[in-house]
Amino acid sequence: CSLDAAFKAHGKKYIGVAADQGTLSNAVNAQIIKDNFGQVTPENSMKWDATEAVEGQFTLAGADALVKFAEDNTKLVRGHTTVWHSQLPTWVSSITDKTKLQEVMVAHIKKLVGTYTGKNVYAWDVVNEIFQEDGSFRSSVFYNVLGEDFVALAFSTARAANPAAKLYINDYNLDSPSYAKTKAMAANVKKWVAAGVPIDGIGSQSHLGGSWPIADFPAALKSLCDVVSECAITELDIKGAAAADYKTAVMACVDVENCVGVTVWGVGDADSWRKSENPLLFDGKYMAKDAYNELCSAL
Ligand code: XIL
Repeated sequence: CSLDAAFKAHGKKYIGVAADQGTLSNAVNAQIIKDNFGQVTPENSMKWDATEAVEGQFTLAGADALVKFAEDNTKLVRGHTTVWHSQLPTWVSSITDKTKLQEVMVAHIKKLVGTYTGKNVYAWDVVNEIFQEDGSFRSSVFYNVLGEDFVALAFSTARAANPAAKLYINDYNLDSPSYAKTKAMAANVKKWVAAGVPIDGIGSQSHLGGSWPIADFPAALKSLCDVVSECAITELDIKGAAAADYKTAVMACVDVENCVGVTVWGVGDADSWRKSENPLLFDGKYMAKDAYNELCSAL
């Protein structure tokens, strides 16, 4: 089947996958993407360490390659990610001056987001992983130096740089409705949207198969989608990749009206950041697993 076509038949925008130059250069992997996915997310090439390792010097070859693949094959792109504590160069994380950090963050967002304005970028993960497990703000240079206001500044800068893109806040472990972090995400986004912060969507990374029963996932997703215009599953992978679990996760998006899409975090297990858990839809040799086949029939 084409997963993307089957999913779109439910009124959704895309099923996508993480990719980058390395995996795209594998012809088998690239063909699976062409046939099955309608959207790509750069797995690493748009992160700060890859795009601005030295202040003011932007290296966008990897990001350009991903966007070109998407354009050549009429796929959407989810830009990932502008403001994140991880894969962040030390020249940024060591800034202590408020004005300096604001300037640096604004310049980074303007350049990165602005470069791809007018291209097929559907959405941007503007801020990533800003909450701790207890629902408080994560200690990062952005929060520690700028306070909570870094969120509003990041989103308004991204909006100005690409008014057409949907702007997302993205995080992991939002997989149970009663969990502190899930509730904090919903409550804070509600507050920020009411205050005029241009947040369009919540992304639930959905690295599943860990701490919570998969049965909790649909209600968790709904609780996030309820507070914002749209939502998406942005980095799906599931320990063991049981077909039933994949169906539960993907159907959770189908069943929530404003859930626009699902992105799986890689094609084949050999390329997965969780490769020891075999979490993807294709095995280490790019053979479709039961999870893939059963999704095709379920959709
Ligand atoms: C991961 C990539 O898959 C790895 O290749 C990289 O070494 C580390 O980052 N949350 C995110 C993603 O938002 O960007 C991360 O991707 C996985 C967790």
